[in-house]
Amino acid sequence: MSKKKMKLSMPSLKDARSRKFESTEVISYHLDGKFSHVGENKTYYVFTYGCQGNEADSEVISGILEGVGYKRSVDPYKADLVILNTCAIRENAENRIWGVLGNLKGVKRDNPELRIGICGCMPQEENATEKLLTSYPFVDLIFGTHNIQSLPRLLFEMYQKQSKVIEVLSTQGNILEDAPKHRESKHKAWVNIMFGCDEFCTYCIVPYTRGKERSRDKDEIIKEVEDLVAKGYKEVTLLGQNVNSYGNDKHDGYTFGDLLYDLDKTGIERIRYTTSHPKDLDEKTIQAMHDCKHVMPQLHLPVQSGDNEVLKKMNRKYTVEEYLAKVKRLKEMVPGISLTTDIIVGFPNETEEQFKHTLDLVNAVEFEGAYTFIYSPREGTPAARMEDSVPFEEKKERLERLNERVDYFYRKGNERFVGETVKVLVDSVSKNNPDNLCGYSEHLKLVHFPSHNLALIGTIVEVKITEAKTWFQMGELVSE
Ligand code: 5AD
Ligand code: SF4
Repeated sequence: MSKKKMKLSMPSLKDARSRKFESTEVISYHLDGKFSHVGENKTYYVFTYGCQGNEADSEVISGILEGVGYKRSVDPYKADLVILNTCAIRENAENRIWGVLGNLKGVKRDNPELRIGICGCMPQEENATEKLLTSYPFVDLIFGTHNIQSLPRLLFEMYQKQSKVIEVLSTQGNILEDAPKHRESKHKAWVNIMFGCDEFCTYCIVPYTRGKERSRDKDEIIKEVEDLVAKGYKEVTLLGQNVNSYGNDKHDGYTFGDLLYDLDKTGIERIRYTTSHPKDLDEKTIQAMHDCKHVMPQLHLPVQSGDNEVLKKMNRKYTVEEYLAKVKRLKEMVPGISLTTDIIVGFPNETEEQFKHTLDLVNAVEFEGAYTFIYSPREGTPAARMEDSVPFEEKKERLERLNERVDYFYRKGNERFVGETVKVLVDSVSKNNPDNLCGYSEHLKLVHFPSHNLALIGTIVEVKITEAKTWFQMGELVSE
């Protein structure tokens, strides 16, 4: 017998407005003794797709799995349980996942004991879940973004009943505190400060898959960062879909800027945050970036388009002029700041002239990196119902022109450091050259430098930049 809870049907904008007033429950992780051995003598592997929020969720999923006895498998295709933590933001993100599922079908044919689970944003979409049920019958477990804490029970039911288990809650979401985590890095950590999104940009599916905006308690966040400092972590990245609206749902006047000031005092070496919404990036936050020694001189500030009419149709709630005014202020207050962005080309009916406005904006800001996308219609979102006269070939051609510009400034952003000494938090041995180590500078530039000293991994070292490439910098170690 299969189990199916309410699925999330796409809320209307009216629902969305009223959901802001629903209360948020903070739940503690509780492991029922009945399920605490469900993974004993078994191995697992989690595939993660999409944003940093999903990466952070996968650390919780791994932590919960290890808490009930599973061990991580080195080879994903030899694991007893494979979980795909999915992304629904664009069609090609979903297509990748359908492809991996196709491969797993073959693996399961050879090993019928393999169990396959799907979670993350795709199960929150009704049509994706229907497709999973009809075309991928070998999937054993489907759970949504609000069900992670129930994983031990769901696995128990899956093994006991020897049948498919589906649980996708339509709740707008709670806040799960205290869940175990298997952090992937020993020196850099994700720290969720909030969940969900209330923005409803017209192209975006996230407010539907991730629920309403809900902020974690500031004391919990500060405690988490203090614990990380005590464990030797050097860097935190604060996560949320729109971190600049942190605290708005709590109505106590404590804002994201206040949080930056408080976290700066915890002793953590480096603080980064993502993602920002230009509309909500306020003066206090910019002031905090100026004042706080540990807040890094780098900001990802998605602009999406350089044309006011398109921005309006996207429901972004700012104009190009307002965006540029914030950029000007950031450059004044944080000299040398490295700015990156997200841009969508080919939004329904985008004209050549409107696209050129985006190129103008890229030239004006000189973004030192950008994630660029062709607009992908997402069923249930307002933009998907807009008629679109722009042929796909034209959208592809616009993307190429945009990328050419973006790459130019990416390289320029690397070149400006040649001859300078920068501080690098060392991550690992370089993938393409075992004679090099690599890590990121304060401005979030990838730096490679010759060294075999593995003890440097997880430490901050000084590196003199000797050469700039488009995607990274080369340097020489100055001090150890
Ligand atoms: N099509 C293309 N890009 C999208 N993004 C979000 N939704 C879509 C969509 N439907 C992009 C935005 C966002 C980033 C995470 O993904 O640029 O900032
Ligand atoms: Fe999507 Fe807009 Fe929310 Fe970002 S702010 S997650 S683009 S709806």
